[in-house]
Amino acid sequence: MTALRWGILATGGIAHAFASDLRVAGRTLAAVGSRRIEAAQEFAAQHGIPRAHGSYEELVNDPDVDIVYIATPHSHHLEGAVLALEHGKHVLIEKPLTLDADEAVAIRDIAAARGLLAMEAMWTRYLPHMVRLRELLEAGAIGEIRALSADHTQSLPTDPAHRLNALELGGGALLDLGVYPVSFAWDILGAPAEIRAVGRLGETGADTEAAISMTHASGAVSSLLTSSRAAGANVAQIVGTAGRVEIDSVWYTPTSFRVYGTDGSVREDYRGEVAGRGMQFQALHAEAAIAEGRADSTLLPLEESVAIMGTLDEIRSQLGVRYPRG
Ligand SMILES: NC(=O)c1ccc[n+]([C@@H]2O[C@H](COP(=O)([O-])OP(=O)(O)OC[C@H]3O[C@@H](n4cnc5c(N)ncnc54)[C@H](OP(=O)(O)O)[C@@H]3O)[C@@H](O)[C@H]2O)c1
Repeated sequence: MTALRWGILATGGIAHAFASDLRVAGRTLAAVGSRRIEAAQEFAAQHGIPRAHGSYEELVNDPDVDIVYIATPHSHHLEGAVLALEHGKHVLIEKPLTLDADEAVAIRDIAAARGLLAMEAMWTRYLPHMVRLRELLEAGAIGEIRALSADHTQSLPTDPAHRLNALELGGGALLDLGVYPVSFAWDILGAPAEIRAVGRLGETGADTEAAISMTHASGAVSSLLTSSRAAGANVAQIVGTAGRVEIDSVWYTPTSFRVYGTDGSVREDYRGEVAGRGMQFQALHAEAAIAEGRADSTLLPLEESVAIMGTLDEIRSQLGVRYPRG
């Protein structure tokens, strides 16, 4: 497989984690771009990246970059992704794909028109325990799936100016954390048929808690919880007619799970070791897709990310959260 040359757009917290994991996986880090040249240079020095650019425009104009990882706040994903796509680069875009479904459609259309890969960096989808879990469920390990529950709760900064709380930066627990259980429900049960959400808003008007109940085409139900102000267990379970799966804390990161029969016996005790934080699997998947001539992910097609943004729009509207331009 020919290695792609990665460009990192933005130098914040997750950009560091991703760059570290790309190195763990022996991928090619070609360049980084920041709004400030000093930040780009510092980032490049830390991760052994040959070129540092003092603007996102310079990064996407770098001829020795094939794919750009977009690591700006959600409010800026559209702008960064469009800039890269218009310069002929593939894009891996941090979750959530965009602020809302309309923005997601815009990315989809530009990527399709140019024949380029645009993929949401919902890294959980690509983790080895999730790959094994899907194999087991498809083989009927727990019979017919009737219900699923998952939470993503963390105690995060309360500063109103922090991107988690600032509406102009797409603040709110749902888009930052709740997107994980929502995407998980989509992965295991498919599109929701009915969506009911209740929650609580913080001082800026961004959601701090949400409890979401959904039904799916098969009739199965999902129950999802998110909070940005208090940390819970962060576990998930899938309940079927012939058994259940318990995914251990922290379910959306590399972890273990067990499959139980209805008699309580353990049918599979999955314990996987991964190098680094685990963000490299999505990058490897993107590289493989492009090497095989596919401009889409098989595990999380762009159309599904667009539809997930639609689900998030509906939940957000029920919660009463409005973004300045949304
Ligand atoms: N996959 C995961 O586990 C995970 C974890 C955390 C966050 N995320 C996602 O990654 C994205 C970034 O999150 P983060 O925690 O890395 O954020 P962060 O630490 O605040 O970094 C965001 C970066 O975006 C750039 N930026 C461009 N315009 C900006 C603006 N108007 N305000 C602030 N920063 C701006 C800045 O880079 P420059 O100054 O270099 O231009 C900044 O360092 C979010 O969409 C989030 O959902 C994913």
